[in-house]
Amino acid sequence: MQEPTTLPTARPAGRPFNPPAELAGLRAERPLRRMSYPDGHEGWLATGYDVVRAVLADPRFSSRYELMHFPFPEQEIPDGFTAPLGDLTGIDPPEHTRYRKLLAGRFTVRRMRLLTARVEEVTARQLDVLAEHGPPADLVAMSAQPVPALLICELLGVPYADHELFQRHTATLVSMDSSAEEKGAAINDLYGYLHELVIAKQVTPTDDVLSDLTRSDLTDGELAGIGVFLLGAGLDTTASMLALGTFALLCEPAQFAALRDDPERAVEELLRYLTVGHTGVRAALEDVELAGETIRAGESVTLALQAADRDPSRFPDPDVLDVRRQASGHLAFGHGAHQCLGQQLARVELRVAFPALAERFPTLRLAVDPAEVPMRGNANIHGVHRLPVTWDR
Ligand code: HEM
Repeated sequence: MQEPTTLPTARPAGRPFNPPAELAGLRAERPLRRMSYPDGHEGWLATGYDVVRAVLADPRFSSRYELMHFPFPEQEIPDGFTAPLGDLTGIDPPEHTRYRKLLAGRFTVRRMRLLTARVEEVTARQLDVLAEHGPPADLVAMSAQPVPALLICELLGVPYADHELFQRHTATLVSMDSSAEEKGAAINDLYGYLHELVIAKQVTPTDDVLSDLTRSDLTDGELAGIGVFLLGAGLDTTASMLALGTFALLCEPAQFAALRDDPERAVEELLRYLTVGHTGVRAALEDVELAGETIRAGESVTLALQAADRDPSRFPDPDVLDVRRQASGHLAFGHGAHQCLGQQLARVELRVAFPALAERFPTLRLAVDPAEVPMRGNANIHGVHRLPVTWDR
């Protein structure tokens, strides 16, 4: 009988981009193994690329929060907690399919590519703000956070006059300096704000996602919930990729220089290497045979996406950041029915941002020792609190 493991969470000292070192040993030994959860549940931990991908693709595994046991002790999730209205990640078909179908057409590759010129403008404007501020500056506050926030505002159809309010609340949500109460209050305010916006758009529709959705059979509450959820899903993730990606590139200047040859390929590698949304969970709806094991109905499986994306059987020399490698197939956006809906938007933002930064600030470097960059610890999304950078004027 296997000894169950707990989920390793501490990243190796001095290697802020690497997953916890124990994950590699666990993966090499058994890509799917027993794991004890903080609430006493005994379930599974999947660390191998093939196993993680298989679970994500398999409808016998549920995404419903109320069926799951969660792997992080600091995540205090009340028993029976269900997905708030509009939250796509915590529900299964047919509810999930209904939302997904309504939203998918708004986030296609074609639509997001059409946005490229706008993404370039917004990015360039934020880099102007950075330049005007002068060195040293915090790249998170001046660029990585506002760019995705402004773009999601535009996509949802938040009027320009309300951007400041929207930015303030979203900054509270992504900041690690805000308390749980402050974050709760920001979510409530945003929900109230989006609810009013939805009602206004029913009367006067404009060309944006929310206006479009007012023509569907979604209720006002569902629409406001979807708005809040899209913000939560799209903001912290993209901001973290922008900031942590820049941090990784500044630590490896040769990679930063090479990125400009093929930004599309480089961005896939950064997504793989960093896998900022590092961990997922699913619950088995029935007994499932997988990788020589039997997962029983009701058992939770923790999916170490970051370990899967560093699996040497899928990505040779996985711990090396190599922006020239072919990293497609990574699981940074998940896989299967819940695969990231905003991935094309995120890709456009990242493909524009890194080359623009390199072009505008050719002497960009960290303003502090890499060990002093404040990391976000055990956050759900891996990243930095701040990224102090400097450059020659
Ligand atoms: C680099 C940035 C991003 C990363 C790393 C990321 C990562 C992910 C991952 C791993 C999932 C799967 C969750 C699961 O299986 O339970 C997901 C789902 C989702 N993401 Fe993203 N995401 C990013 C950006 C965005 C953006 C910009 C948006 C929208 C504007 C967005 C909207 C969503 C939505 C709506 C879902 C839920 C899909 C569903 O459950 O059907 N994401 N994302």
